[in-house]
Amino acid sequence: MIRALTHWTVLGAALVVGGNAHAGGDIEAGKKLGETVCVACHGVDGNSVIPMNPKLAGQYQSYLVQALRDYRSGDRKSPIMAGFAASLTDEDIENISAYFAAQDGDLKTLDR
Ligand code: HEC
Repeated sequence: MIRALTHWTVLGAALVVGGNAHAGGDIEAGKKLGETVCVACHGVDGNSVIPMNPKLAGQYQSYLVQALRDYRSGDRKSPIMAGFAASLTDEDIENISAYFAAQDGDLKTLDR
């Protein structure tokens, strides 16, 4: 029970930090998209358990935005991600990046 509470507290704090740290991106809208499309490969909340599919949880929002734009434009090559990125609008990319950036995970990044 205490473990569960702690987990939710951390997640709540992460959501608040993620929401305040970036101007763009609707976390709730991003969550809907992430839970329906991206979860198949990137795991629940972006915590992929398949080594081939990168973890997205806790990644920098700006990194995720850049990666998705680059897949969409073809600057970054991935036959798999090109298809998914092609269907995303600029707004979708902002939202979904805000969502994954705000998730708790074991990805290590520098302090923001
Ligand atoms: C069919 C499996 C699959 C699905 C579904 C999928 N991805 Fe991916 N994704 C991958 C793979 C594989 C890579 C690694 C591609 C590469 O080598 O650049 C990747 C890479 C990424 C990256 C770059 C991560 C990094 O660390 O550089 C982002 C961001 C990303 N995906 C976001 C998404 C989002 C958002 C969705 C949902 C709209 C999604 N993906 C759906 C398989 C998938």
